[in-house]
Amino acid sequence: MKWYSTEEKRGIENYTVADAMVVFAEENCIRIRGHNIFWDDPKYQPEWVKTLSGEELRAAAERRINSVVTRYKGRLIAWDVVNENLHFSFFEDNLGENASAAYFSTAYSLDPCSRMFMNEYNTIEYSGDVTAGPSNYLKRLKGILAYPGNDRLLPGIGVQGHFGQGQPNLAYIRSSLDILATAGIPIWMTEVDVSKGPGQDEYLEEVLREGFSHPAVEGIIMFAGPESAGFNSTTLVDRNFKNTPAGEAVDRLIEEWRTGPFETRTDDRGRFKAALYHGEYEIRVENPVRRSSKVAKVEVNKASRGRTIDIKIGP
Ligand SMILES: *[C@@H]1O[C@H](CO)[C@@H](O)[C@H](O)[C@H]1NC(C)=O
Ligand SMILES: *[C@@H]1O[C@H](CO)[C@@H](O)[C@H](O)[C@H]1NC(C)=O
Ligand SMILES: *[C@@H]1O[C@H](CO)[C@@H](O)[C@H](O)[C@H]1NC(C)=O
Repeated sequence: MKWYSTEEKRGIENYTVADAMVVFAEENCIRIRGHNIFWDDPKYQPEWVKTLSGEELRAAAERRINSVVTRYKGRLIAWDVVNENLHFSFFEDNLGENASAAYFSTAYSLDPCSRMFMNEYNTIEYSGDVTAGPSNYLKRLKGILAYPGNDRLLPGIGVQGHFGQGQPNLAYIRSSLDILATAGIPIWMTEVDVSKGPGQDEYLEEVLREGFSHPAVEGIIMFAGPESAGFNSTTLVDRNFKNTPAGEAVDRLIEEWRTGPFETRTDDRGRFKAALYHGEYEIRVENPVRRSSKVAKVEVNKASRGRTIDIKIGP
């Protein structure tokens, strides 16, 4: 959905690829984050955008945000509104210090139910990059949310999670997630990968375990896929679609982090207790005496912790 993909030539929009991906995801019950409305890195503007005057840029950017957000509104769970606006400031430099905040406001007014994210690299990956460190991240986010009207939007903290070769700094990942978590805003790891090298699969597993076990992290997306699709950092399958060691690690974790099918009996008051991983469940209740049964769907999430769910199966 990036601007350089959907409007390579000025004034000629082409959503063919993005549309097809959205339809594919919808048909397969895959939730979608819109990546991205704008990217603050000057390098990644469409070529024609780089030559615009301030006023032309303002008008073009206004058309852009209206076009992409209106097109997909209500179909995505989130938007990366201004990607990497800690490291870069293309829109601020050309349109003023509140450019990002104003685009969060516009995105919210066009698509109020999707979560609006900042999305940055090195916030949890690398302690040496202070620009994108957790304190600066929170300062920037709070500035954006202080912009008139933005206190109403659903905000999200996006940390990319591009890890280099070798042992990731797990202590730093945890402490930076802890700092970010003080904002009380959902954190997503949005682009997790680990560069190729000895131990890559173990390091990837360690990073994923840090994210999964942190109570403020509500989602993890990997920047990974099959080698045949051009992935060259973290590949999950090789050219023959055989799992790589990293792919094995991911499959093992997905298996570990789900509660598989099980059967149990209720007590004499018709109750049973279960500890379940977050997720969507189908519960089939059978009463063999009355020969009645019922299927109920429940979602287990943070809010359902310790909660009792009632399922009635007849008089
Ligand atoms: C739009 O993009 C698709 C996919 O890249 C391409 O096949 C098609 O020719 C493009 N349409 C126009 C009108 O350029
Ligand atoms: C940016 O927004 C803040 C309020 O969030 C305001 O105080 C400041 O004057 C704005 N700056 C400009 C250049 O408009
Ligand atoms: C990996 O792929 C990216 C994107 O296609 C490319 O820019 C980069 O040079 C590749 N890196 C290696 C080591 O092949």
